[in-house]
Amino acid sequence: ASNGGMETEKTLAMIKPDGLRGNYTDRIRRAIVESGFRILKDRVVELDEDRASQFYAEHSSKSFFPSLVKYMTSGPVCVMVLEKQNAIADWRAMIGPTDATKAKATHPNSIRAMCGLDSEKNCVHGSDSLQSAHREISFFFEETVWSKSETSHLSQVF
Ligand code: TYD
Ligand code: MG
Repeated sequence: ASNGGMETEKTLAMIKPDGLRGNYTDRIRRAIVESGFRILKDRVVELDEDRASQFYAEHSSKSFFPSLVKYMTSGPVCVMVLEKQNAIADWRAMIGPTDATKAKATHPNSIRAMCGLDSEKNCVHGSDSLQSAHREISFFFEETVWSKSETSHLSQVF
């Protein structure tokens, strides 16, 4: 590999509307870089109802879905491609539990504890698997060039 034989991984991170509104972007980016991630790409985008619904398609049958889509379309979001070894699991660990009230109680140093509000307005997103990371990065950054080792696990999907 290009970085001395250590295989890196990419994940999608997102600062959700409340995170941007609350001016947490700089603090979150600093925490990301200090934890050894490289921010390969970033952009600020506004999701409309269709795009937000597509992004969270796996949750479309849940009772919280309409409210989630409303929240995700309430303002711009910042999406980032993060890279390091074990990026997917490490970023999930850094953001903490889905429910920010729980994060505040059990993971006080997590990002959701810092800037999240509840189980919906939890200020950040992180891909939950290799497959999700690939789907979500391609969703926002169509031009991403993938190495063979990053896509070989997807051969049975595509
Ligand atoms: P989920 O994939 O379960 O959590 P995570 O973001 O940690 O991967 O849910 C996706 C999003 O849906 C979550 O970030 C916020 C929203 N959500 C709710 O609004 N209410 C809920 O009860 C749950 C579980 C999620
Ligand atoms: Mg999820």
